[in-house]
Amino acid sequence: MSKVADMVAILGNKFFERVLFKKQIEKLYLIMGGAIFFETLSAAVEFDLFSLLSEKPGLTATQIADHLQIDHKPTRILLLGCTALGLLKKSKQSYRNTRLAEIALSRKSPRNILAVVRWQHHINYKPMHSFYDAIKANANVGIKEFDGVEPYLYGRLTHHPELEQIFQDAMEDISIQSNVQLTRFVDFAPYKYLVDVGGGNATNIIALAKKYPQLSAAVFDSPSVCDIARKNIDKAGMQARLGAVAGDCFSDEFPDGVDCLLFCHFFTIWSEERNRWLLKKCFESLPSGGTAIIFNMMQNDNEDGPLSAAMGSPYFLTLATGEGMLYTWQEYEAWMRDAGFKEVKKQVLIRDHGVIIGIK
Ligand SMILES: C[S@@+](CC[C@H](N)C(=O)[O-])C[C@H]1O[C@@H](n2cnc3c(N)ncnc32)[C@H](O)[C@@H]1O
Repeated sequence: MSKVADMVAILGNKFFERVLFKKQIEKLYLIMGGAIFFETLSAAVEFDLFSLLSEKPGLTATQIADHLQIDHKPTRILLLGCTALGLLKKSKQSYRNTRLAEIALSRKSPRNILAVVRWQHHINYKPMHSFYDAIKANANVGIKEFDGVEPYLYGRLTHHPELEQIFQDAMEDISIQSNVQLTRFVDFAPYKYLVDVGGGNATNIIALAKKYPQLSAAVFDSPSVCDIARKNIDKAGMQARLGAVAGDCFSDEFPDGVDCLLFCHFFTIWSEERNRWLLKKCFESLPSGGTAIIFNMMQNDNEDGPLSAAMGSPYFLTLATGEGMLYTWQEYEAWMRDAGFKEVKKQVLIRDHGVIIGIK
């Protein structure tokens, strides 16, 4: 080959590496460094770094180290990670939150997801080490990280009140972000008594009851979660219309008089068989015109994403139950119809959420 041809080949290679392939390599770094980058975020959240920079934008590394009472070098490492990840921006010697960090990671932002980060760190990270074994066993092998003999994470958490609180706080964050959508797109005016199955700490029914004055509602969840729900209902001063009924939806009857059964982030937990069984039970329990509502993140019908579905599904396999995943829209719609619901509607919402509504 001539010298000119050599030069062209080298330049072409450099162009390919530096320009065309750069984004792909960066993506690989994000995947390979997933654990490290997540722990960078988690450490920054534990130090409440983003709230600090929200209150005092423009601090230098030395000032940040002083505020957080940590040494200079670890501060530099933490700031490097947060800046490279696009959570902070550095200008001269000063650091500021990016818009993403300001909205999602600063305590004063109503849309912050700090509790979700704490849930990932304290509950999900260690068990996810067992993903490979969970795939081979088709079981939630990662649950061994928690005391107890219960088959599901929810039962095991009852032995760890502090972790149960972290879990419920994260669910609350997720619900607060998403139930605005639910109340905007679903009309709850026709219903008198709604039961929120696996309703957690009552965040959803409190929001619904505030918007719909005719509505009474109850959380239907485990005894320890019902205790948390009752405290929140009391705090909201809504005991007259809201309550919590302890029960297991697979072995206990739904409360009498229910005309709307709501399942928020619940059908993702269980196998297809259980979900189909549960929808049949809903159909039999509801009066004519009664409604079952499934509200959670959805997988695309062509099974190519979104990332949220790809991120949530391994958690249900490896830890939560060993049997759930984020199912597709069409799976839910088919199960609803097969259970007997005559009118089945769907509504696409933001943040990969959706609702499937079945009317008897
Ligand atoms: C993923 S969380 C969702 C909480 C809430 N619905 C939300 O969207 O924030 C699942 C909830 O279901 C409850 N749960 C799990 N198994 C249940 C069962 N068999 N019967 C009733 N509730 C159950 C858990 O205690 C937990 O509160």
